[in-house]
Amino acid sequence: MWARAATIGGWLHPDQACALWEAARRVRPGGTIVEIGSHQGRSTVVLAAAAGQAGTRVVAIDPFVEGRMFGGAGTRTQFEANLDAAGLRDAVELIAQPSGTIRPQWTERIDMLYIDGKHDYWTVRDDLRWTSYIPQGGQVLVHDAFSSVGVTVALLRHVLPGRGLRYLGRTGSLAQFEVAPPHARDRVRMLGELPWWLRNLAIKVVLRAGRMFGHRATPDPF
Ligand SMILES: C[S@@+](CC[C@H](N)C(=O)[O-])C[C@H]1O[C@@H](n2cnc3c(N)ncnc32)[C@H](O)[C@@H]1O
Repeated sequence: MWARAATIGGWLHPDQACALWEAARRVRPGGTIVEIGSHQGRSTVVLAAAAGQAGTRVVAIDPFVEGRMFGGAGTRTQFEANLDAAGLRDAVELIAQPSGTIRPQWTERIDMLYIDGKHDYWTVRDDLRWTSYIPQGGQVLVHDAFSSVGVTVALLRHVLPGRGLRYLGRTGSLAQFEVAPPHARDRVRMLGELPWWLRNLAIKVVLRAGRMFGHRATPDPF
């Protein structure tokens, strides 16, 4: 499935795709996976392919925002074409609206939540509220954790001191949590990621500065 996903534009790395696949395979048969932020469908095809083998439902939420970075309506067309090409169009329910608009109307149980939507602090804070639909033992994965400022600050303010999510670890910037009361050592392990975050921020600053002088070659880390 990675061979297919790698042809789709996106930011998910191969080892992160493996982690997503493994997490999706752990969802109970007939369970529900919700993905916030699908873009062209790189992570969606991984989730849907893994879920299909277990009879799990996949809901993809993305308003396909306009702009240089995410591409708007053209990205939705690309998303649908990519799912078609993977033979997974019918395996995914697309909700093309912002996650924050959908959440107040949502009523169903979620078994696995993948957060990779808008990366500002306020949106991520709101996306973390989707965890209230997940029973104990359910899974939450967050992309660009300890990399993006907005994502990381939201995790530090709302997960680190909270009592709902236990930090399990990360694959690059893909952080994994379990819905369970955290132990002190889980909080310490989250704090232990801060030097890596600072390292990522430092690299981003250097790359941004380089771009001011016309250097275009290197993408941001994670
Ligand atoms: C980083 S991309 C997602 C990448 C995708 N998971 C992948 O593996 O390629 C972020 C996506 O979030 C979407 N997005 C922006 N605001 C959103 C919101 N409020 N709710 C859900 N998705 C949003 C954007 O349209 C964009 O497609």
